Amino acid sequence: MSAAPTSPKAPAISKEQAEAIYSRGLEGIIAGETAVCSIEQGGLWYRGYEIHDLAQNATFEEVAFVLLEGHKPSPAELARFKAEIVAERPLHPMVTSFIESAGGYLASGRAVPMDVLRTAVSILAHTDPDAQSVDNAANLRKAKRLLAKIPTIIGHMQNVIDGRAIIGRELGGDPTLGHAANLMYLMNGEKPNKDYARVIDVSLILYAEHDYNASTFTSRVIAGTLSDMHGAVAGAIAALKGPLHGGANEAAMEMLKEIMHDVGERAIGTKAVDDWMQKAFDTKRKLMGFGHRVYKNGDHRAPILHKMGRAIAEKDTKNPGGHAAVKWFELGEQVQKIMLDKKTIHPNVDFPCGMTYFTMGIPVPQYTPIFVASRITGWCAHIIEQHANNRIIRPLSKYTGEAPRKW
Ligand code: CMC
Repeated sequence: MSAAPTSPKAPAISKEQAEAIYSRGLEGIIAGETAVCSIEQGGLWYRGYEIHDLAQNATFEEVAFVLLEGHKPSPAELARFKAEIVAERPLHPMVTSFIESAGGYLASGRAVPMDVLRTAVSILAHTDPDAQSVDNAANLRKAKRLLAKIPTIIGHMQNVIDGRAIIGRELGGDPTLGHAANLMYLMNGEKPNKDYARVIDVSLILYAEHDYNASTFTSRVIAGTLSDMHGAVAGAIAALKGPLHGGANEAAMEMLKEIMHDVGERAIGTKAVDDWMQKAFDTKRKLMGFGHRVYKNGDHRAPILHKMGRAIAEKDTKNPGGHAAVKWFELGEQVQKIMLDKKTIHPNVDFPCGMTYFTMGIPVPQYTPIFVASRITGWCAHIIEQHANNRIIRPLSKYTGEAPRKW
């Protein structure tokens, strides 16, 4: 009988060591390295640039460049990057006709925009000449195409939902508009005013990147098998959709609408809202837009967006006197205070996002797709980083099943 093969290499971590560091939901576990982003209780940095600094002084295109290309762009680099994105905005007819064919399902609510977007991204792969390559240059070209085309997909979806002619079929919008303003324009044919365009732009900056969050981790796991960028992004979209992750911006607004419906507008500021919240606590309901795995003392992004959203709500032009829009912020602020007083749980960025996008008249089912339009930059930066220095991501599990037994 021949000897059993000897292991060429002992495992880097023994079973006992692995069990000792096990943590449910991977809480507190470092699952990989990255130079793209760092988040701590005390701050959030994209490639070393702090989030308040970026929200105040950068544009989304500049942030996208920093994330994808790795450094702050010179004026010439930025101009070239913007031109490349504008040129890549139109969709292949295969993608447009899919969105049109899904129109009835989207309009009736049987298909949701996040799912249609996920499928559209998969179809984009079939039209991309670099689809199967995972080298750096091909990945960067694909990342720019995805960045450029996702707003066009979102716009086309909204057009078929609303039953209007597709805006931007030939050009993917208005080439004179920046990324954020064009996204709004593609959705309803109206060029946003400067305030709205900047608020959307900042929301895209805030959503762009967040290290090993669930969707980014998903994209790295897929990329780690040396599978392609479009597949990794489709998986990331599926992960982002969940209400515990990106889907929370839609769920947070739906929750506020539910409270408003149950207590009535006149009850804002009164005990009726406390009573609604108490019932939620008693039934152990998860309040959407609150809590965070990493930030226990508050999400740095939330106050930035809250302040900007409230400012446009206060001078909202669509609702005379600003009252109709600002009431959502008044209700939201009361809900936040109750959460903090009773549960010591802070809002995350999805909470003000819901109220802000609602103020701007954006349909709720498009909030998470807009999150995708931003986070595509972070995902692609991570996929590029994973492919460039790859080791398959293959953790262990803690077995809780039956002891070995005979069949
Ligand atoms: N509502 C009510 N209770 C909550 C909430 C909440 N939103 N968040 C946390 N808790 C409770 C939780 O039930 C737990 O209670 P207990 O100890 O009695 O079981 C306690 O607070 C500690 O929770 P945790 O361990 O900090 O939560 P986690 O790290 O496992 O989950 C989370 C983080 C974000 C999934 C969770 O806070 C949550 O479900 N929030 C609501 C959904 C949401 O807003 N998601 C967006 C996340 S941030 C931005 C993004 O990814 O888009």
